[in-house]
Order: sequence, then C-alpha cells, then structure tokens
Amino acid sequence: MAPKKKTSTGPQKRKAGIPKAKANRPAKAKSAAKPVRPAAPKALLFKPEIRVYPTPETLVQEAAHQVMQIAREAVNERGRFVAALSGGSTPKGLFQQLTEEPYKTLIPWSKTYLFWVDERHVPLNHETSNYRMTQEYLLSKAPVPKENIFPATNGSQPVDKAASAYEIKLRKFFGGDSTPKFDLVLLGMGDDGHTASLFPGMPQLNELEKWVVGYFVDTARKERVSLTFPVLNAGRFLLVLVEGEKKEAMVKEVLGGASEPPRYPIQYLRPAGGKLVFALDQAAASCLKK
Ligand code: 6PG
Repeated sequence: MAPKKKTSTGPQKRKAGIPKAKANRPAKAKSAAKPVRPAAPKALLFKPEIRVYPTPETLVQEAAHQVMQIAREAVNERGRFVAALSGGSTPKGLFQQLTEEPYKTLIPWSKTYLFWVDERHVPLNHETSNYRMTQEYLLSKAPVPKENIFPATNGSQPVDKAASAYEIKLRKFFGGDSTPKFDLVLLGMGDDGHTASLFPGMPQLNELEKWVVGYFVDTARKERVSLTFPVLNAGRFLLVLVEGEKKEAMVKEVLGGASEPPRYPIQYLRPAGGKLVFALDQAAASCLKK
C-alpha cells in the first residue's frame, strides 16, 4: 500500500479556537487523481558571495570580525558555537587575530566547540598536523575548554578506521542521524582547486552517504581524513579564505570561469540553506573582473 502522500496547501490561517466553517461545496466529480510528483530538488548552483580586501591584513581583520559575529549569534540563538576548522597556512593569520583584542574578549570561548574540516593522518604533534597548527596559533591562547575540542585523527589507526571514529564523534556530539550543521565551516582553497581534503579526480568528491572519509591522496601523497561535501554544505556559514598571488590563476578559474559542470572540487560548495563567502585579498583576486 503506497504510503499516504501528505499534501498541504500550507498552514491554514485560522482564528484561534474558531473551527473553519465547512463551505457547502458541490461534490467534485470523482476523477483519478494524477500522482503529484514532488518537484525535483532545485539544483543548487555554485554562487558564492565574493569579498575582496586590499591586503592580507585587512582580510584577516575582517574575517575575524565575521567569525566573532557568527560565534556570538550562534551562542545567542543556540547556546553554543560549533565550528569546523581547516588547516594549511591561511588560517594562521585569522587565528592570531582571534586571540588578540577585541576578539579574545568578544568571542564566547567557553561555549565554543571545535572540530576539523580535515586532517593529515599523523600524530597530533606532527609538524604537518592541522591540529598542531591550530594548537600553536589558536588553542594555546584562546580559553576553549579541552572537552570542547575534537581532533579528527591522531594517526594511530588505519585511516579508514580513523574516519569512522571521527564520524562517531560527530554523531555523538550532534545526536541522531541528521547531517551535522556547523555554525562555521572555515575553508581554504588549494592551487589545484581542492578544499578540505577533497582533491580533484578523487571518488571521495562524490561521497553522499558518509560524513567523513579517510583515504590515501595520490596527489598529496598523504593519508587524509576529511569531512564530505554533504557535511560541508549543511553548514550555516561557509567561509573560504584565499590569500596571495599564488592562488590568482585558480581563483580566476574557480570564481571567474564556468562552474557547471564543476571543474574543481571547491565548486561543489553549494550550501542548501547556509551562506558561502569567499574572502580574498587583492593579490589572489587580481584576475577577477572588478
Ligand atoms: C589542509 C587544508 C586544505 C587547505 C588548502 C589551502 O589540510 O591542507 O585543509 O584544504 O585549506 O590546501 O591551504 P593554504 O591555506 O596553506 O593555502
């Protein structure tokens, strides 16, 4: 028996307590109701908001202000600020800003919960660890409670097991099976157009079931653990920081070129309900039309 389709013409506005009078409508001629097919979900387009700042310094100052706003709003609305951070080098400047006044005081660190967008599958103190970089530039100076910090992997088990363990951490924290919604997803862009640890040509780009993947990345010749696009795109605010002339050519491709079909992994960032912002310095954005 096909499940009953609930059709609704939207909430009926009724005066409180006054039942809707039944109009004497002529009986409708019985006709075989045509199955109403739900409209195909609107294909989400890659449509980032682009913010260009004159220098790397203004980029990180503005990004810090934006993170502070997101954090305070999240705590006001939901009692906590949950962020997924990227590694690499770009976030360092932002992290430094966040640990200096006024942000050190303005950000509700005690109600801040930190995860990672991706991680190299190495020990936490390894020189390439994103956790270690975050520890050095942020956690050693911002009073985030230890129990609010959730490293993605410490390199101690096979990488696919590490990914499953991280996914279990996410399920326990967010509770239930609905895709985790981070208040902030902090991202970068590689000069090959990757983001997180989702690299061009890798099948993990198309992972729609798992929240976390762990795999050997040929091009990076490293094992990585990474959130997948369904989780990234469930975020409320996706902030992509891109800095420096080294990224100029890829910025032109990603933001100035075609994105249908997506040619680069970062063009798969299409938050359904959230906001996607690319914050660039002028050096990275010089090829973009004004
Ligand atoms: C990583 C990052 C990665 C990074 C880009 C940009 O683990 O390396 O998460 O996705 O954001 O590679 O790196 P840079 O900020 O160093 O340019």
